[in-house]
Amino acid sequence: MSKILVTGATGQLGAAVTESLLKRTDASNISILVRDAAKAAAFKAKGVTVAVGDYSDYAAVLAALRGIDKLYLVSGTDLENRAAQHENVINAAKEAGVRQVLYTSFQRKKNISHSAIAEVSESHIQTERILKASGLIYTILQHGLYADIIPAFAGEQLLETKTIYLPSGTGKVSFAVRADLAEAEATILLDQTHKFDNKELEFTGNEAVSWEEIAKMISGITGETIAYVSPSEDEFKGVLTQAGVPLQIVGMLADFNAGIAAGEFEEIKPDLETILGRKPATVKSYLQSVYGK
Ligand SMILES: NC(=O)c1ccc[n+]([C@@H]2O[C@H](COP(=O)([O-])OP(=O)(O)OC[C@H]3O[C@@H](n4cnc5c(N)ncnc54)[C@H](OP(=O)(O)O)[C@@H]3O)[C@@H](O)[C@H]2O)c1
Repeated sequence: MSKILVTGATGQLGAAVTESLLKRTDASNISILVRDAAKAAAFKAKGVTVAVGDYSDYAAVLAALRGIDKLYLVSGTDLENRAAQHENVINAAKEAGVRQVLYTSFQRKKNISHSAIAEVSESHIQTERILKASGLIYTILQHGLYADIIPAFAGEQLLETKTIYLPSGTGKVSFAVRADLAEAEATILLDQTHKFDNKELEFTGNEAVSWEEIAKMISGITGETIAYVSPSEDEFKGVLTQAGVPLQIVGMLADFNAGIAAGEFEEIKPDLETILGRKPATVKSYLQSVYGK
């Protein structure tokens, strides 16, 4: 049985992948790399090996990767420095003799000259390049937007404001649910046939929906009338800034919604359904789980 190391296991995706692995293989086959061991106590109690280190700490990452066959590398959250951090981890994987690296990358349209979310995509593109050039066997997992971001984007007070206020017009997103990505990616980690060697997979849901459609779905689930208003980007930035929302969050929301308006997240790909062996969760079923309580 392959020895697997999952990074980012104190985050949402890495934790879900680790949980999915624990259902299907012995804990003795699973290691995780975390920055704070205290946050990994529950996994340790289940028999998972816990290593501590930041992506930028080469010696710690190298020590964690000794004896590992497959690395699941969760993309970091520090946009400015993450390409260099990922390169560090990939170099350590090579030195440690890791066989295969799965990297959580990002869905993008290949045929546009300028992207509103270029700042996010660029470090993913760089990491893909570094991984391919490393000579390690790679599996690149290009994730669409997670359905799990909908409540934060729509506003945590949505049932009070009753309005989704986002500048993405009629743009649609083929949201996938994080739990489905985790299940499919655990399947890849446990695969012994090598069919995912040197593959790029694009993981999306099976339908693309607009914020207007999401507002209607939430209205149907809650019985409240939820409206969708799409301001101009400038108006959006002005209103949120005036309301005291931190500039970084305002910029992130504006950029992602400009990307949505431009159709950057609307493509639907079959890879997720194929690997799951079932249909991915729908946005409606996800919304039901959040707003139907
Ligand atoms: N497609 C989408 O819709 C979408 C949405 C959100 C995020 N993402 C991307 O996908 C990744 C996983 O998503 P998520 O929801 O699981 O995010 P998350 O909950 O923020 O988890 C990120 C994990 O990465 C770890 N990490 C970040 N920088 C690190 C570093 N320098 N060294 C070691 N570990 C580091 C964090 O460690 P700590 O626990 O110590 O902080 C955390 O465990 C994110 O990191 C982000 O790049 C995509």
